[in-house]
Amino acid sequence: MRKIHIFDTTLRDGEQSPGVNLNTKEKLEIAYQLEKLGVDRIEAGFPAASPGDLAAVNAVARAVKNASVIGLARSREQDIDAVVEALKGAQDPALHVFLATSPIHRKHKLRMEKDQVLETAERAIKYAKQYFSKIEFSAEDAGRTELDFLCQVTDMAIRAGATVVNIPDTVGYMNPSEYGNIFKTLKEQVPGIEKIQLSAHCHDDLGMATANALAAILNGADQIEGTINGIGERAGNTAIEEVAMALATRADFFGATTTLNLREIAKTSRLVSKLTGMIVPGNKAIVGANAFAHESGIHQDGMLKEKTTYEIISPETIGLRDSKLVLGKHSGRAAFREKLIDLGYELDEEAVNTAFAKFKDLADKKKNVMDEDIRAMLEEKLAESPE
Ligand code: KIV
Ligand code: ZN
Repeated sequence: MRKIHIFDTTLRDGEQSPGVNLNTKEKLEIAYQLEKLGVDRIEAGFPAASPGDLAAVNAVARAVKNASVIGLARSREQDIDAVVEALKGAQDPALHVFLATSPIHRKHKLRMEKDQVLETAERAIKYAKQYFSKIEFSAEDAGRTELDFLCQVTDMAIRAGATVVNIPDTVGYMNPSEYGNIFKTLKEQVPGIEKIQLSAHCHDDLGMATANALAAILNGADQIEGTINGIGERAGNTAIEEVAMALATRADFFGATTTLNLREIAKTSRLVSKLTGMIVPGNKAIVGANAFAHESGIHQDGMLKEKTTYEIISPETIGLRDSKLVLGKHSGRAAFREKLIDLGYELDEEAVNTAFAKFKDLADKKKNVMDEDIRAMLEEKLAESPE
């Protein structure tokens, strides 16, 4: 089974979510939890962005012992110097340096020709080499970069000394077959590619960040970059929990795995949501409140007979206690009966039938029928019944 390295950027790209601002204490709390989750790499921030971020990256660098800690830099000496400063005291420091390569970015943002892009990135990687043995180079907006130029950029980065080359779909423009093809082409055409790790970094603007990351894995990517709960710029980044669970659930198909401690997923998701203030939608894959909740009678009946009828992942795998059978108007008698037993009521068949009819009346008026509603309904019923 091929190991896929997990590069967590919750503290950097995740923090770029509009409205999110993590202080040092919060970054540390998340970093400790990411360590428990077992991510391989933690991108702690962008030290040149502010003195506060530099200090926070330094605190994370000194605290984390079981993951490599990474700082982001543009292809500028002052940015690289800021990362050097921020990573003092780190057990396993690494630099992430980037430069845009796409025609749109070259023309409008950088105002550089292709050869200037190559020279600038090469100079930055070579400058960084005196400080770092581990350097990741990202070709920003790689997804919209001409493929032959991306091969040239990757070749330059390897020769200059990068140990990881990252292919960001910065604006979430790719689809799985196109994005997978980039990895396939780089693997086939760039000399020395086997000496470095190839990394995928996707954004979710078209809702394809996880699918694109998985396509990259199928085409040879060694590392996936993403965030917890998929938070990040605009529509967010690849959700790490989705990739990890896709690989764990469909190992037969992907033939690849992470070394994440999957049981820490739910806890990590809750912590990131609490500290960033970004609410996880109920229907979010893996970590949404409804991801293991069943409301329809047919599904509940199946679940009571055998959980694999409607669950491809057991909630315990990600650290949850159990699935939930939610009582609502679509629920059936079997789940209702189970709920009565759970709540400690022993009713004969006739009494269950009467209570079930009352429950259906209530469910028509109320979205979810809670335990207290059922208790109240039954206590009322028992009070009415003759001695
Ligand atoms: O999306 C992106 O291109 C980035 C780079 C800095 C890697 O986040
Ligand atoms: Zn990004």
